[in-house]
Amino acid sequence: MSTRHGMGGRTGGSARSRSRTSAVRKAPARVTAMCGIVGYVGPRQAEQVVIGGLRRMEYRGYDSAGIAVVTDAGLVIAKKAGKLANLTAELADHPLPPSSQGIGHTRWATHGGPTDGNAHPHASASGRVAVVHNGIIENFAALRAELQAEGVTCISETDTEIAAHLIGRELDRGSALADTMRTVCLRLEGAFTLVAVDALTPDRIVAARRNSPLVVGVGDGEMFVASDVAAFIEYTREAVELGQDQVVEVTPDGYVVTTFSGEPADSRPYHIDWDLSAAEKGGYDWFMRKEIFEQPRAVADTLLGRLDSEGRLVLDEIRIDDAELRRVDKIVIVACGTAFYAGLVAKYAIEHWTRVPCEVEIASEFRYRDPIITPTTLVVTISQSGETADTLMAIRHAREQHAKVIAICNTNGATIPRESDAVIYTHAGPEIGVASTKGFTTQVVACYLLGLYLAQVKGTKYGDEIRELLEEMDELPEKMQRVLDRVDTYAALAQDFIDRKSVLFLGRHVGYPVALEGALKLKELSYLHAEGFPAGELKHGPIALVEPGLPVFAIVPPQGRDQLHDKVVSNIQEVRARGALTVVLAEEGDEEVVPYADVLIELPRVSTLFQPLVAVIPLQFFACELATLLGHDVDQPRNLAKSVTVE
Ligand code: F6R
Repeated sequence: MSTRHGMGGRTGGSARSRSRTSAVRKAPARVTAMCGIVGYVGPRQAEQVVIGGLRRMEYRGYDSAGIAVVTDAGLVIAKKAGKLANLTAELADHPLPPSSQGIGHTRWATHGGPTDGNAHPHASASGRVAVVHNGIIENFAALRAELQAEGVTCISETDTEIAAHLIGRELDRGSALADTMRTVCLRLEGAFTLVAVDALTPDRIVAARRNSPLVVGVGDGEMFVASDVAAFIEYTREAVELGQDQVVEVTPDGYVVTTFSGEPADSRPYHIDWDLSAAEKGGYDWFMRKEIFEQPRAVADTLLGRLDSEGRLVLDEIRIDDAELRRVDKIVIVACGTAFYAGLVAKYAIEHWTRVPCEVEIASEFRYRDPIITPTTLVVTISQSGETADTLMAIRHAREQHAKVIAICNTNGATIPRESDAVIYTHAGPEIGVASTKGFTTQVVACYLLGLYLAQVKGTKYGDEIRELLEEMDELPEKMQRVLDRVDTYAALAQDFIDRKSVLFLGRHVGYPVALEGALKLKELSYLHAEGFPAGELKHGPIALVEPGLPVFAIVPPQGRDQLHDKVVSNIQEVRARGALTVVLAEEGDEEVVPYADVLIELPRVSTLFQPLVAVIPLQFFACELATLLGHDVDQPRNLAKSVTVE
């Protein structure tokens, strides 16, 4: 059952007792929180817009969903644990009244388990205000104690409900909704996006953000707020990026942005350069599969328009002058997950082209080890979403140490690029499948562009050498397409391996991060035990895992690098001699690997440094296909969500 609130009092009395019961249950431990928020005010039916927006943000991951609309009779709230389908079924049985103002939420449980009662929106004690929230209010226990001392009863286990009561209390004291939001935000600690509607203030929504995403969608006589532009792309491609610690008040005709203390604040309007079709599956069974196939186009877009009229490399937003870049004597790449693996690939190219030492560090480890950062250290951060909390905290730490930060990001106006000194956008279009695919390949390409840019500025490569490399990169989309033309082979492989419990991936040099990425994709999607190793490390331990029939994928470097190539061929022989079933990814015409390959996947010829861009595709497709055959939800694998906005 959903809980519904009329303005004059709650009609969902049973929700109280349900919440009490769940309060004694121990909430499951969660390590991530990434909710979807949407708000609408305008002439359309708010329910339709809000539910549509929530559907487009499902990819972010969630375990309950809810909506609140403002009607003449007050607020009406409906919320359900589980998938959005549970909420829409409830709404089909008990339709919401017509309304032109509403907010909605997909929640990933943090404070309190994923129950109907803990789902958002939460109402204030009087039922006058409804609030949705993304993030964590760290001082919620103290605030709850304060409210309880005033006689307020909390009916959920959430931190969000506290914000609803605080806003309700200020409103009852006569403040306007926007003032109230500002006052309350000043009292909150932690990360949050808050969106509120007040039953007594029709035609407006107030939202606030600190360390958590929020964008405004500007329509014609209608306005939207959301965690992600995908929520309103169907209606408008004009958006406004909010800054840190800002409050926005939207009405159908406009918006006003202020700081938490009420001063007028700057916000950045921008045009979204993709449309609704990019946010839809377009005939594919999964977004992930669509995004795998989009990679040639995405990489071409990452490369597009990077040369000036004199043939020199230019990047999106480099707000660091050349003299400063010339002084850089150490590069540290920080990122998480797949983006970290893109960084591992980049290290080889950046060091080779710039001769500057480059470290790659998992963002969540970075600031805890007291890293050595000086004003001549360049920190490069890689994040598809631009909102990953671990990465954000790492760059904040770096900036506190006076390092310059360059962000490689796919999301215009996200927090990480906003807080960086320079940005290279990957221009990959929205990545909706939780498992990153085009995110990875475009990040690698953007890192290469950065490496070449630094080489140009520092003079470690001649202009003609840079142009030659760029020309080779221009051929990559076509070569990636050739890999995609052979997907039937990878699909057949998935069929053959459907009953395997464990898979190993081996690589050397840039093939090593590809092996790690292949293993990660398989873990995430098919829930199989999968490990990636540097092929040379095998004999130092992991070879003990090899037993007859174990699938071992090996990424073989191009033949030009004879030593490297031959070493991997030896490693393949080592595992094959112990009964492993070898799946060998090698360039076309590589006859040396043929005797040792149970399955041979041929890759187009590219230079060693560019091989990850073609080698990763069969691994992505294999994981997607195997998970499909196993009946898993490929776009929303269990326990995972698209953007991880808590540390
Ligand atoms: C794996 C995956 C994650 C992300 C990681 C960083 O398929 O998608 O490992 O790569 O959470 O996310 P971003 O790039 O958004 O910072």
